[in-house]
Amino acid sequence: MYLIFLLFFAASYSMSLSSADSVTIYEDFVQCFKNVTTITDNDLSDVVLPRTSVSFTPTLRAYIRNARFNTSSTPKPSIIIVPRVDSHVQAAVICTKTLNLQLKIRSGGHDYDGLSYVSAVTFLVLDLSNFRNITVDLNDGGGSAWVQTGATLGELYYRIWEKSEVHAFPAGVCPTVGVGGHVSGGGYGHMIRKFGLTIDHVVDATIVDANGQIHDRKSMGEDLFWAIRGGGGGSFGVVLAFKVKLVTVPKTVTVFRVDKSVDENALDMVYKWQFVAPRTDPGLFMRVLLSSPTQNKTSTVNTKLRALYLGKADDVVSKMNEEFPELGLKKEDCKEMTWIQSLLWWMNHVDVDKVKPEILLEREPDSAKFLKRKSDYVEKEMTKPELNRLFQKLATLDRTGLVLNPYGGSLNVTAVNATAFPHRHKLYKIQHSVTWPDAGPEAERLYIGNLRTTCNIMTPFVSKNPRSSYLNYRDIDIGVNDHGADSYRKGEIYGRKYFGENFDRLVRVKTAVDPDNFFRNEQSIPTLPLNRR
Ligand code: FDA
Repeated sequence: MYLIFLLFFAASYSMSLSSADSVTIYEDFVQCFKNVTTITDNDLSDVVLPRTSVSFTPTLRAYIRNARFNTSSTPKPSIIIVPRVDSHVQAAVICTKTLNLQLKIRSGGHDYDGLSYVSAVTFLVLDLSNFRNITVDLNDGGGSAWVQTGATLGELYYRIWEKSEVHAFPAGVCPTVGVGGHVSGGGYGHMIRKFGLTIDHVVDATIVDANGQIHDRKSMGEDLFWAIRGGGGGSFGVVLAFKVKLVTVPKTVTVFRVDKSVDENALDMVYKWQFVAPRTDPGLFMRVLLSSPTQNKTSTVNTKLRALYLGKADDVVSKMNEEFPELGLKKEDCKEMTWIQSLLWWMNHVDVDKVKPEILLEREPDSAKFLKRKSDYVEKEMTKPELNRLFQKLATLDRTGLVLNPYGGSLNVTAVNATAFPHRHKLYKIQHSVTWPDAGPEAERLYIGNLRTTCNIMTPFVSKNPRSSYLNYRDIDIGVNDHGADSYRKGEIYGRKYFGENFDRLVRVKTAVDPDNFFRNEQSIPTLPLNRR
């Protein structure tokens, strides 16, 4: 499937826009943009960037987070629009629709398969990196924040911390991830077991619809508000901002890491982890990383456990000694700190007293590595012989890893159809991961091949019919859509894997709010076929 997609990219690229076409698109777009906004010529050159602009390439590259899509042959947008105010976003929608082109919406650019800034067809990029206002209000109930979608998670965490050390927000671990894609796709982090998904804390939103109109929760209606919480960005509109409820955390939290080699009974630890991690105190999140030898420079698979406990070290040590003796957790393995410091620790800063929270504001432009990710869900614990076979095989697969994220806790108490994200009642989620240093098709074939091999090994042990995937771990291997005559059928293939039974409601919402399928990408929600409307 991936190869087909690449060929699709390459073939379209060879027929791609001549610079003359690109100039015509720019001229027509600018004419329209000026008609529907009050923008001055001076500002226009910063907001609508043609390929000839000196800002075009730096702007495009600033939020490319996968080096596979940062090459000279990667298809480029005809124009990048970098809006400063809401009316620029409205105009971008209206004018792209008038030109009958595809609009790619990009917030943080972390889409693992680059769908926010790459396409096989002629396309424009709407880059929301200027939309980064965050207003935190601790007096609104238990605390809330309005956050624009071009802000990063790190910026949101930092702005909350500026006002309070005991308020927090349950979202992703990596601070450079953008709010726009992350929240639309579900979002989770190391407090998922205590507080659920990121979308469980979204209480309002503003969105530009396919007609260029702005809505809040009330005027968009509950169906659309449901869809943009887990149904993914890029299918329903441009989300301008989300209003989120904050959570409270203890003044002191505890983090710990336990690394074990195969000789140190790593296998027993992982086996038991499957029983404990999804069922223990919801305030405890224990992630396991299994990686092939090259990543760790050892001869066997290495196992790393990383954990956050929303409480004191003594409590978690006694809890683990009782429930999980195979871990061998000691007080010396634990570090007590504030919640904001725990974020720095998850960023691999060992001595968090030496790092300032301001590091959360860094956007790390142009720092992409070559990578591919896939996901799976596990519903029943693997046996020791099964785990052993996985360990044996993984030891031969260069640079490949599995990240096991426990579910349970809060996730079990929310209905599968409460939001568009359906995979709540699982034991744990796997992120299959491969990251490599060298450019070129040969390296890509080798490492993505390794990743697929681990996925194949896991086939008997993960969810089936369909094999579920997490939308935010974008994976075009599971199906792509060119939105031709067969769009619904193609959309159903990846759509049921990402959304399970919620797919049907997502299609109904999509058909109601965007019947012409303006907001589309290679894995967006399709509309119902005309004969079924
Ligand atoms: P990007 O801008 O690429 O957008 C992703 C998708 O959303 C695209 O389809 C885009 O068109 C659409 N979109 C973006 N903004 C929109 C808007 N304002 N309105 C409508 N549509 C919009 N996930 C997780 O749950 N927990 C985690 O801890 C992590 N950690 C992590 C680390 C790293 C290094 C990466 C690269 C990724 C993750 N992720 C993750 C996955 C991450 O949540 C996912 O890639 C998000 O979609 C990224 O959102 P961005 O806005 O950065 O992406």
